[in-house]
Amino acid sequence: MASLRIRVYGDPVLRRVADDVTDIDGAMANLCQDMFAAMYEAPGIGLAAPQVGVSQRFFVYDFGDGPGILVNPEITDSDGEWTYNEGCLSVPELTWEIVRPRSIHLKAYDLDGNEVSIEAEDLQARLFQHELDHLEGRILLDYLDDDQRREAKRILRQRAMNGQGPPAGTGEGLSLP
Ligand code: NI
Repeated sequence: MASLRIRVYGDPVLRRVADDVTDIDGAMANLCQDMFAAMYEAPGIGLAAPQVGVSQRFFVYDFGDGPGILVNPEITDSDGEWTYNEGCLSVPELTWEIVRPRSIHLKAYDLDGNEVSIEAEDLQARLFQHELDHLEGRILLDYLDDDQRREAKRILRQRAMNGQGPPAGTGEGLSLP
């Protein structure tokens, strides 16, 4: 199984608006398997295709009750507001209090091409919104105020100069205990 490199802040693919998936084929299914492997190894609970350099609209996730894949996801409704400490595998080791809607309604396709409709709330809604952001070329830094962003960039720059890669223990979309 090929091992995928998780792209980190500074990689232009993280800023691209991903393309719709037009063909769910065997190559994509294989890529998803490799993405799960990279996600579990990180470890994280979600990983969007752009984070492994593939600018297409899908992501994989696992909250602990089995793997899931959502293709061409779309949020059709959202409600409430919730502040939560959020992290990202592409901005390793840093977390911030981020405000997002607490619950969402999401439409997507599964790997068989069937349409799925999901009511998600709390952590699940949080993760799905986080992964959707990746498909839009948005990352957590976009939610910060100027001071926070400056500090984050300073840390990331410092780390890049030291040649440090992504450390273990950062949960994609969530700060794990
Ligand atoms: Ni992320």
